[in-house]
Amino acid sequence: MAKMRAAVTAVGGYVPEDVITNKDLEKMVETNDEWIRTRTGIEERRILKGGRATSDMCVEVVKQIIEKRGIDPLEIDMLLCATITGDMVFPDTANTICDKIGAKNAFGFDINAACSGFLYALTTGAQFIESGMYKKVIVIGADMMSSILDYTDRSTCILFGDGAGGVLLEPNEEGYGHMDAILRGDGSGREFLHMKAGGSLKPASVDTVNAREHYVFQEGRSVFKSAVNGMGGSITEMMEKHNLTADDIDWVVPHQANMRIIKALADTVGVSMDKVMLNIQKYGNTTAGTLPLCLSDYETKLRKGDKLLLTAFGGGFTWGTVYLTWAYDGN
Ligand SMILES: CC(C)(COP(=O)(O)OP(=O)(O)OC[C@H]1O[C@@H](n2cnc3c(N)ncnc32)[C@H](O)[C@@H]1OP(=O)(O)O)[C@@H](O)C(=O)NCCC(=O)NCCS
Repeated sequence: MAKMRAAVTAVGGYVPEDVITNKDLEKMVETNDEWIRTRTGIEERRILKGGRATSDMCVEVVKQIIEKRGIDPLEIDMLLCATITGDMVFPDTANTICDKIGAKNAFGFDINAACSGFLYALTTGAQFIESGMYKKVIVIGADMMSSILDYTDRSTCILFGDGAGGVLLEPNEEGYGHMDAILRGDGSGREFLHMKAGGSLKPASVDTVNAREHYVFQEGRSVFKSAVNGMGGSITEMMEKHNLTADDIDWVVPHQANMRIIKALADTVGVSMDKVMLNIQKYGNTTAGTLPLCLSDYETKLRKGDKLLLTAFGGGFTWGTVYLTWAYDGN
């Protein structure tokens, strides 16, 4: 009998209605559509408005999952939310989501691993299924980046958007599901990508607000190089570990940070771009949301037994690759 694995049995994705195009950004900062397209691949991104927060996007994702799988919220054992933009610094957003959807038997917590958050959360959730402890675990990746972006800083505000995606994990005895994970971190990378104030190191004050320290700070060039090395290295290691060739891989699911990084990854794996999930042009970088949003957008193309490599890199630094086999035919 095959080992019991944690398989994805349903996917949901949500992006807000409001769009900011590159042309819109031209009116806000010194930039242009051509620069953004050629340097990043991004054409537009979504922005959450109307006093809504990260949990509101996640609620939409969970509603889709519940409906597709035909389950009751009371059946959910656990809900993990990967995010760096929770509704509040505390409490966690996972329990807020459980409350809003009526998942009264579930508990959960947030995972703060920036753009790698979904991989960390997926692997954490998978352990609870594989151990036999739980039967239904929801894993969400979601970020409302517009809440921490400085729309006067052209080097960051063009890159990010708001969005959420998630999956349901259930036990699978056919051998499909979460096959392996290579997860890494290097805290020395915090220098290059962080938010300066609002934590215990520098609590919020009038001075920190005036200094615009509650926004994303990024040294783009350093992050770019580390992202190529981190994702490329972990994906190569995973392929070698499982004797996977480019022909064996059905889909590469890369973090959507920059089209140039994604193309470099496709070259590293040796696959053509038609095997690479892409939505960066529509949503930009939604941080923890990118990977599950890709799965949601491509769900109808996925077939039972497909081999997927999910890879991400983000603030921390955090990075890694998850090897997943798909458990159902998308329709
Ligand atoms: C941010 C990023 C797109 C910048 O692209 P880049 O090719 O590295 O560009 P640079 O930062 O070297 O800047 C090149 C020039 O463009 C300018 N520039 C930066 N942002 C610009 C913008 N929005 N519009 C126009 N010009 C811009 C810079 O000021 C610089 O000008 P200079 O040469 O006169 O100094 C790129 O570094 C990147 O994608 N980094 C990784 C981001 C990432 O993955 N982050 C998330 C990790 S999860």
